[in-house]
Amino acid sequence: MRDGSPANVTRLADYLPPAYLVPRTHLDVDIRDGHTLVTATLTLERNPARDDRPEDLVLDGEHLELLSLSLDGAALPASRYREADGRLTVFSVPERFELTSVVRIEPEKNTALEGLYRSNGMYCTQCEAEGFRRITWFPDRPDVLSRFTTTVRADREHYPLLLSNGNPVASGEESEGDGQGGRHWVTWEDPFPKPCYLFALVAGDLACLKDTFTTASGRQVALHLYAEHRDLDKLDHAMVSLKKAMAWDERVYGREYDLDIFQIVAVSHFNMGAMENKGLNIFNTACVLAHPATTTDAAFERVESVVAHEYFHNWSGNRVTCRDWFQLSLKEGFTVFRDQEFSSDMNSRAVVRVENVNFLVNHQFPEDQGPLAHPVRPAQYQKIDNFYTLTVYEKGAEVVRMQHELLGAEDFRRATDLYFERFDGQAVTCDDFVTCMEEVSGRDLSGFKRWYSQAGTPIVRAEDTYVDGLYSLTLSQHTPATPGQADKQPLMIPVKLALLDPRGKPLALNDQGDTETVVILERATQTFSFPLPVKPTPSLLRGFSAPVILRYDFDETQLQTLLAHDSDGFCRWDAAQRLYFSALSRIIEQGESAEQQLERLRPALEGVIRRAAEDPAQAALLLTLPTETAIGDRHAPLDPARVHRAAHAFKVALGRALDEDWRRLAESLREPEYRADGDAMGKRRLRMLALSYLGLAKADGIADDLQRTFRDASCMTEEIGALGILVSNGLDGAETALEQFAERWRDEALVMDQWFAVQAAVPGPATVARVKALMSHPDFEWTLPNRVRALIGTLVNGNPSAFHAEDGSGHRLFAEALKTLDAINPQIAARLGNGAARLDRLREDLSTSLRTALSEVREGASANLAEVLDRILGA
Ligand code: BES
Ligand code: ZN
Repeated sequence: MRDGSPANVTRLADYLPPAYLVPRTHLDVDIRDGHTLVTATLTLERNPARDDRPEDLVLDGEHLELLSLSLDGAALPASRYREADGRLTVFSVPERFELTSVVRIEPEKNTALEGLYRSNGMYCTQCEAEGFRRITWFPDRPDVLSRFTTTVRADREHYPLLLSNGNPVASGEESEGDGQGGRHWVTWEDPFPKPCYLFALVAGDLACLKDTFTTASGRQVALHLYAEHRDLDKLDHAMVSLKKAMAWDERVYGREYDLDIFQIVAVSHFNMGAMENKGLNIFNTACVLAHPATTTDAAFERVESVVAHEYFHNWSGNRVTCRDWFQLSLKEGFTVFRDQEFSSDMNSRAVVRVENVNFLVNHQFPEDQGPLAHPVRPAQYQKIDNFYTLTVYEKGAEVVRMQHELLGAEDFRRATDLYFERFDGQAVTCDDFVTCMEEVSGRDLSGFKRWYSQAGTPIVRAEDTYVDGLYSLTLSQHTPATPGQADKQPLMIPVKLALLDPRGKPLALNDQGDTETVVILERATQTFSFPLPVKPTPSLLRGFSAPVILRYDFDETQLQTLLAHDSDGFCRWDAAQRLYFSALSRIIEQGESAEQQLERLRPALEGVIRRAAEDPAQAALLLTLPTETAIGDRHAPLDPARVHRAAHAFKVALGRALDEDWRRLAESLREPEYRADGDAMGKRRLRMLALSYLGLAKADGIADDLQRTFRDASCMTEEIGALGILVSNGLDGAETALEQFAERWRDEALVMDQWFAVQAAVPGPATVARVKALMSHPDFEWTLPNRVRALIGTLVNGNPSAFHAEDGSGHRLFAEALKTLDAINPQIAARLGNGAARLDRLREDLSTSLRTALSEVREGASANLAEVLDRILGA
């Protein structure tokens, strides 16, 4: 509760349809120096779906200075309306009418980056979820769909480009003759009704990369990608990705683009990754710009998937949108599933799946098991911004994936066809989505729907017996309590499995000779039996067929069989992870030596290395240890310093024991010149991993090798990779390399982000002082979310042994950063605040120190940050 007052909670159970509909919206946005005037003319109609016939019209607005208000052309006297607490109530309005408001806003002062704001000399908007109310008075909710016509006016010299949603229909010079020389305007018309969160506007002086796409039905679509002039050479990859995404959505989902023009604008200051505004996507520069000299391979892949994701929203989100924000996963979970499948089709499916699962398990699982746990479809929230979470996105995508798995590709496609057709132009719910799946497949998915409403990560326990030629697998499920949800019901859990013979070959499971099957666990416990000639090694949860924790008492031989032979990429990787976790546990809990543990694993790892050439990217995944955060999550109480000592010792042992292999890989994977394809990326990935083990082991001559790699790098992947290894291991030349790097890249913001991140990632308590010093670096900016994430986010979310330094300095720095940030950008502050979610898992002294630091921040915190802190502090 904020300042002792009752929290402002919105509940799903209280949903009511809107009282008034807005079939048409005319906006006139007049951008001046220091302020902007917005004239909004709304056509309003009482909603027939509301039989209580509300008499008053209530609109949302924040930070608006109301200059005038008129109804059907007549100015309204102050007695006819009231403005209070972000609401404008107009009393006793007719059935149908036109309301015109004129407001004054100050985009130049907007550091929250919601609504209309300025970034590097351009104006842009971000309206999802509730930013439109910072532009004008409007029913700011996703179930009010309106047809927008927007006129943007600005000075032509500084803002030659004026964009909004839809198609440009008119433009001209302003003819005021009042000294406002050189102003122009452009009018845009969006023929598709949309909720206001999809509204967008841009005014600036930008460079443009143009191309076209011809849709399956033969329509030509103009593709315009915009960035600052200096970044024009970094737009090619996004353009290629966009065209691939457009073709993929036609082929896989039968979805064509629907306007004559599709535009993307790159913006430096952006809270999120990117935004799917109708026909005018706005992107964080980090998610659209790419060039081999400045962008890592991982970032190239990210650009491809984010461009696709936002494009896919044109159908899953825009044409069919959400009824209310509780249904957020309807568009986000589905669209993440779509972008994951796109990435799988464009790249190596096995590698993409492991990366997606690894992300889910390392980030969403902890969220679902901690104080911030909530269902895919939450039941209540204070600030919706805080619910753009890994649960809504990543678990939501898994929930869609399970439906895909249950129905099969063909029926799933028929169900999505039905969904898009039936609900086109409407605002709907997650239930509506599942209903389409049910209707097409004839299955009853009522039990399945619990995945949307029940929070927490289910634990599936597997036990097996092999008696007289019959293999019996008993699966049981249990979901631990989460905040506000003590009792859990069984879920419908698809478990894909194969059973391997001692040589790792899959056994036939039935008379048809199938070697893979999906069993559905729906009750608390169920047993599945298979007649088999030998006792098998079970390959369970193949492809990670459900977002659950699988407990099975694998012995080491079984894990080695899976790692060496399983045809399922996820299960191979999972076997490696289990081997690593158990080795690390023995070091942490039993005080065994890292060298000893390494010797046990050595044959298995050598096997992986021997086969590395088959798929270097996959080998790199198999040879990468779990993060210290992931290791820490398996031990209670959480003691980050101890985890770091064990993980570091193990990695050093691994570096030393396989020294020759790493050297051979580092040498043989070197490419004569830069290539951008997947094969070259895979090789770079494994090569950089090999170098990192050599760096950790401080192998002979490695500092020189790394300095050379850094100096002669063919691309940013090698350059920043080598720099990171030098810096994190404190190798010779590290500081010089840092200086050279900053000198070389000082004008490239996205590269400088990486420079900050590399330093914040160095394990150990000394990093706190370094981060503190970097907070005063001339290039550090609190108003630039990418920079804050690079420095503070890396420390808090990626470097537990520094963040939780024994002297509490990391916690104090965190608190200080939260306070500073909260005054500038509450959304970013709240997101960063999530980094404290492990508070109750920490060793007691650390937990106390973090609690003390946060309690101080809680006083005077914004509503966004207060909600997060209250959950974490258990208020
Ligand atoms: N609709 C969101 C962007 C958004 C979220 C804007 C919350 C405002 C508030 C967009 O489609 C999205 O999901 N973007 C992701 C990246 C995506 C690839 C998962 C993001 O911004 O991180
Ligand atoms: Zn999205």
